[in-house]
Amino acid sequence: MSEPVEVRTTPVHQRAIGTASVRADGVEKVTGRARYAVEHAPPDALHAWLVLSRVARGRITSIDPAAALAHPGVVSVIDHTNAPRLAQTDNKELAILQDAWVGYRGQVVAVVLAETSEAAREGAALVHVDYEVAEHEAELREDNATYRPEQVNPAMPTDTTEGDVDAALSAADVRVAETYRTAYESNNPLEPHALVARWADPAEKSAEDSAEGDADPVVLTLHDSTQGVHGVVSTLAPMLGLTPEQVRVVAPYVGGGFGSKGEAHSHEMAAALAARTVPGRAVRLAVTRQQMFGMTGYRTATISHVTLGARADGALTALEHRVAEQTSRIREFAEQTASPSRMMYAAPARRTSHRLAQLDVTVPSWMRAPGEMPGMYAQEVAMDELAVATGMDPIEVRRRNDTATDPETGLAFNERRLMECFDRGAERFGWSERAEAPRATLDGDWWVGLGVASATYPAMRSPGNRARVRALEGGRYAVAIGAVDIGTGARTVLAQIAADALGVAVESVELEIADTLLPSASVAGGSSGTSSWGSAIVAAAQLFRADHGDAPSPGVETTAAAADAPGAKTHAMHSFGAVFCEARVHRLTGEIRVPRMLGVYSVGRVINPTTARSQLLGGLVMGLSAALFEESWRDPRFGHFVTQDLATYHVATNADVRELEVEWLEEDDTLLTPMGSRGIGEIGIVGTAAAVANATFHATGRRVRQIPLTPDLFL
Ligand code: MOS
Repeated sequence: MSEPVEVRTTPVHQRAIGTASVRADGVEKVTGRARYAVEHAPPDALHAWLVLSRVARGRITSIDPAAALAHPGVVSVIDHTNAPRLAQTDNKELAILQDAWVGYRGQVVAVVLAETSEAAREGAALVHVDYEVAEHEAELREDNATYRPEQVNPAMPTDTTEGDVDAALSAADVRVAETYRTAYESNNPLEPHALVARWADPAEKSAEDSAEGDADPVVLTLHDSTQGVHGVVSTLAPMLGLTPEQVRVVAPYVGGGFGSKGEAHSHEMAAALAARTVPGRAVRLAVTRQQMFGMTGYRTATISHVTLGARADGALTALEHRVAEQTSRIREFAEQTASPSRMMYAAPARRTSHRLAQLDVTVPSWMRAPGEMPGMYAQEVAMDELAVATGMDPIEVRRRNDTATDPETGLAFNERRLMECFDRGAERFGWSERAEAPRATLDGDWWVGLGVASATYPAMRSPGNRARVRALEGGRYAVAIGAVDIGTGARTVLAQIAADALGVAVESVELEIADTLLPSASVAGGSSGTSSWGSAIVAAAQLFRADHGDAPSPGVETTAAAADAPGAKTHAMHSFGAVFCEARVHRLTGEIRVPRMLGVYSVGRVINPTTARSQLLGGLVMGLSAALFEESWRDPRFGHFVTQDLATYHVATNADVRELEVEWLEEDDTLLTPMGSRGIGEIGIVGTAAAVANATFHATGRRVRQIPLTPDLFL
């Protein structure tokens, strides 16, 4: 395939963009016609069930499949002694069933294939595995977080230093030096991870070849639940010894991911390997919610040591953020927890660092706003403590340290409208009514308080995106890109973007997405999806119009990629926001209620107010949930999370979420995209837990420095 033309786009004339276009797939979803991954299993599909390691570290000494194979309906048991060999095994999370070594509890040690899901599950329980147990370590502590990674996610420096932090701290009028902790959190999208895999039968392929001459190169087809179809191909294909053209991944409907479907995990490899043993027959694998906690990613717990030095007027003179967190010994993932402390506020001296405990546990991964979420929780509670220490209003402390240039790069921010967000929010939330002192308002048995926090998220565009525009009959256009809509509304907003880029009505666009046969698209992650895919669509549409005019012959088409964002080298591109929270804490039980929250955001042009509002509200709910409930408990003796379902891992439900409001500033950020938009997927969760924590301090006068904020901490 030849490289597509790279187009320097011009800003799009906005007509559909900015309107509340109805969700393109709303009817399919609410009527149950949208088919999710496992619903693509044909009637004769085999069902796979995973057998997971019960030890945290060691070697399999024997696997006895006899009882499983004797069970009615069980077809085969695939383990490291008989599994197909992989061509590459560097990625130890994915290189399963290749040897007897076990790196964590929950690792796939066998796959049972059966005629029904029930038989597969019963068969899996009958596989007898013996282990030689090795010593393991599965507990994050301050003293074992000593490993210094080369870089932190996605490719940031591990440590940074500017100025003389120690001298500035000792000369400071006011100091805050505290430790903040966040819990292990587990991604829980509505649709658990699942896929249908089919390996082509070589016999059927050669028959096809002789009949048609033009052979279909696809060997392995996955109907997957993933945030990025092309990413699954580029990860799995080389490991399986296949070319990218030989693997096709489709994901038309995905029930959320929150980052856990951003990269392939071992269940996808398990299904692919199992399918390879039964060519021509589909294999259906649905990961249970219990299994998800042990194998599809989670957010590491974090310990943040934050030290702020300031003048009496609140101006920071030094800022230090040292992070201890964990990775897995089998594959590294280093959450960039201190990264927002590098860019958020002005300070002449600054030091940040990350150290990891390398544990014998499942691999941590992306969970909505990795880095910014736990990092801003810590920094924004520390800023609240600085407000108390200086006797300033929490908003004024932030205003005092606002900066128009990025302290880390020295570049101007594209749009730094943080204080406008605060000012608008303060007015709408009634901030001026807030009592100056904490523990000032008792309403019945409830202490009442208000808190704020800043939010931020980098505005990113991913490389490697391309899109295709083809003229159809009757002034209609087919617009294709392999992007995935994980429930965010991508299918809806990309059609709006395509319509405006082509200068036609939304109804004239037929959008094709979520298939690796379409032009390549980056992951639905990093709040970069719409910016990345939309820019490629605009590039293809603008080149199409330049080449083919306004009345093209049906069938003509153009594929293109977008050149870098205009501001990529000249500006530090971020979004900002201000989160307001009212918390009520019961004076006798410590129970916490959050009757209202408000987020005001500066996120560039909002392409669709309906889907954007849902994204931002969802982020606020997830931040509230992290503040009050979410916590995975690891048992260090066995290395796994003992909270493995929604009964023990609590997420905020309808009764917990009261009056939530979001609003955004009117903006048009063409430094990042020709649509004027930035990204909105993650910023809603950032700072939210800090706003809740700060409100509980204001209510009770008790400073709790960990999340979740459980009732016992207020007694
Ligand atoms: Mo998001 S954690 O980048 O899917």
